[in-house]
Amino acid sequence: MRGLTFLVTLVALLTGFYRYFDSRLDQFYVFDPSNLHELSQRAIAAHGNDTRAVVDFIVTELDEKVPGSNLNRDEEWVFNNAGGAMGAMYIIHASITEYLIIFGTSIGTEGHTGRHTADDYFNILQGTQLAFVPGSYEAEVYPQGSVHHLQRGQVKQYKMDESCFALEYARGWIPPMLFFGYADTFSSTLDFPTLWATTRITAREMIANLLKGKM
Ligand SMILES: *[C@@H]1O[C@H](CO)[C@@H](O)[C@H](O)[C@H]1NC(C)=O
Repeated sequence: MRGLTFLVTLVALLTGFYRYFDSRLDQFYVFDPSNLHELSQRAIAAHGNDTRAVVDFIVTELDEKVPGSNLNRDEEWVFNNAGGAMGAMYIIHASITEYLIIFGTSIGTEGHTGRHTADDYFNILQGTQLAFVPGSYEAEVYPQGSVHHLQRGQVKQYKMDESCFALEYARGWIPPMLFFGYADTFSSTLDFPTLWATTRITAREMIANLLKGKM
């Protein structure tokens, strides 16, 4: 009985905590989706399909102009398998309420977006991304310079026919997204060195941000 009381109290506390912070998530954000889109377009205008230079342009400007964020200037690329799709990512920022990564592959991929507890903004830096929602007979097409906004809780099938890279920004509750990001490792790839590298970088960035008071 005491165990039950404890459990009920714990669930009530966690629910209260979640409700409180969920309505105040906005105040923790340091990045802005429209600024990131505008910055991506300027980077493409300056460097075209030299995507390495585009990425460098973006990260350099963010490092100078976004206060209160911990940015990772090391391009620590790791594979990412999720929802059946495969690509690689470079984690620029990871905290409890936001992440910013470069995600892509030079040979194309396809999969399930995942159903997430965050809004996702996929700024296409190179190539084209296609998306499909049940009930539609047409593909959604996201070319270079456009942004694909996947709303919190929404799901799609997506595909990159060939080389495609994007600046991906997610805002909301980031930790629950990690389960989706890890599931394919256990059910399919068994690539534990990649899992370890991803965990090490994500945890390091999240803790560095928390120590700066950035949730
Ligand atoms: C990048 O390459 C694609 C395919 O060749 C081309 O259609 C596109 O216009 C190029 N983009 C820029 C900004 O040069």
